[in-house]
This record gives sequence, C-alpha cells and structure tokens, in this order.
Amino acid sequence: MESVWLTGASQGIGRALAIELAKEKRHIYASARNELALQELKQEIESLGYPGLLIPKPLDICKADDVHRVCEDIQHEGRLDKIILNAGTYHPAPATEFNCQALRELFELNVFGTAHCLEACLKTLRLQGGGQIVLVASLAAYRGLPDSAAYGASKSALIHLAESLYTELHAHNIEIKIVNPGFVETPLTDKNEFTMPQRVTAEWAAKTIVKGLDKSGFEIRFPWVFSQFMSLLRALPYGLYFRLIRRFVVSSNA
Ligand SMILES: NC(=O)c1ccc[n+]([C@@H]2O[C@H](COP(=O)([O-])OP(=O)(O)OC[C@H]3O[C@@H](n4cnc5c(N)ncnc54)[C@H](OP(=O)(O)O)[C@@H]3O)[C@@H](O)[C@H]2O)c1
Repeated sequence: MESVWLTGASQGIGRALAIELAKEKRHIYASARNELALQELKQEIESLGYPGLLIPKPLDICKADDVHRVCEDIQHEGRLDKIILNAGTYHPAPATEFNCQALRELFELNVFGTAHCLEACLKTLRLQGGGQIVLVASLAAYRGLPDSAAYGASKSALIHLAESLYTELHAHNIEIKIVNPGFVETPLTDKNEFTMPQRVTAEWAAKTIVKGLDKSGFEIRFPWVFSQFMSLLRALPYGLYFRLIRRFVVSSNA
C-alpha cells in the first residue's frame, strides 16, 4: 500500500485530500499544528470504513527540528512514496501597507516551512531510492497581482524551486510536481470579500489533485477555464498586462 505524508491536513484542501487519499486506500501520515482536528479527521476516515489508514503526525512546519523528527519517525515506520507539501496561508496586503515583517511571516510558512519539509523528505527519498514530492503553490503566482505581493512572491518562489529541482532530482528517481489551484472554498478563502471567479469546492480540488498525482506532467492546475485565463495573462507583455490589470482594479473599486 502506498504511503503519503501530507501537510496542512487539519482543514481546507489538505483535509479533503486526506479523505480522498483514504478512499484510494493510501496510507496517510497527516500533519498540521491542530492535533485535535487531526484526531477528528482520523475518526471521520475510520467512520467512512477505512480503519487505520490515517496516522496523525502533528507538527509546526516552521520548526525545522519538529519536521526532521516527524520525517525520521515516518521513515522508521516504512517506505514513504509521496509527500504532499500543502500547508500554507494567505493574507491580502495592499501595497500601501507593505511591510517587511508581514512578508517575512508569510515566507517563514509558505517558503521556509515548505523548505524544511523538502530538506527532510529529500534525505529520506534519497535513502530509499526515489519517490514523489508535490508542492502546493497557486495560480496567483503566475503574475504579480494587486493585494497579493507577498503571497504571490512566496508561491512563485515555490514554483521556481520546483522547476529548478526537477531535472536534478529526476536523475535520482525523485519526481517533483507542482499544484496550482485557482480559488477553492476553504477557511482561507472564506475571509475574502471580493468575488472569486470559478471557486471550486475543496472536495473537487482534492479529487483533481489525487487524479493528477499518478499522471505524467510537472503541473496540476485547475479549474481549467481560470487556469487558461491566468496562462494568457502570464504570456502578455508588461505594457498590455499592466493596462489590463489597472482597468480591472479601477472597475472593481468603482
Ligand atoms: N484556498 C484556495 O483558494 C487556494 C488557492 C491556491 C492555493 N492554495 C494553497 O493551498 C494550500 C491549502 O490552502 P487552504 O485553502 O486549504 O488553507 P487553509 O484552509 O487555511 O488550511 C491551511 C492548512 O495549513 C496548516 N498550517 C498552517 N500553518 C502551519 C504550520 N506552521 N505548520 C503546519 N501546518 C500549518 C493548517 O493547519 P493548522 O492551523 O492546524 O496548523 C491547515 O491545515 C495553501 O498552501 C494555499 O496557499 C489555496
């Protein structure tokens, strides 16, 4: 049976992913800080008829020692086939309130927290001769968007990391994938006050991600129409892109 280490499993996309992975009979090591929520998730998965499939491994990914300890624990329990690094957060931040501390806090979790996990699991995967690592970034990282300078920068850092590591890790039988979701209904987006185009449920997102894990290809992105739109934005020259975005910001502030 395949085993998966999943971070950010206590709520939102990660929680839905854990349930979807259990339905596929994969063994899940589920991490987040909220231990109670992980225990409740374990009970829910057992009540769905999948006893013993989920083992809570509470941790704070911002604490490197915690991450290494949990990863070594998992390694002692058996082979680790997939690692899904999903834990992360978002705070809207208007340019006029730009401050270094907020940027640092977001990077501590989204980039360095993920990097702690990456460092620990790369060691494990090298020792066992291969495996798969999945980083959850965002379609918001395709281009610099208003109100999300820090978030977009943190997620594009993950995409860049994954792209850079891809070729070298391939030679060690380690596959790296990136997941770029559009808007997904979770506690994270519940706080947004603007209209979120094509927002999908966490369950739909989880099904799409799980289907994509065993397909070839570096990127799993969704929903399709919104991801095509973001790809188009990414391809536009700066002048045209900024004109378009300015028009969008003016009309949404009107
Ligand atoms: N929702 C969207 O529309 C959307 C779109 C694009 C990308 N994403 C990305 O998808 C991922 C999941 O998002 P979501 O919407 O499901 O967010 P969410 O509902 O806020 O869930 C975030 C998860 O990360 C965990 N987490 C936060 N800080 C942590 C820490 N220091 N150590 C360990 N775990 C931590 C949280 O658990 P604890 O609080 O228990 O630690 C929680 O389980 C994020 O990386 C997000 O950026 C989301």
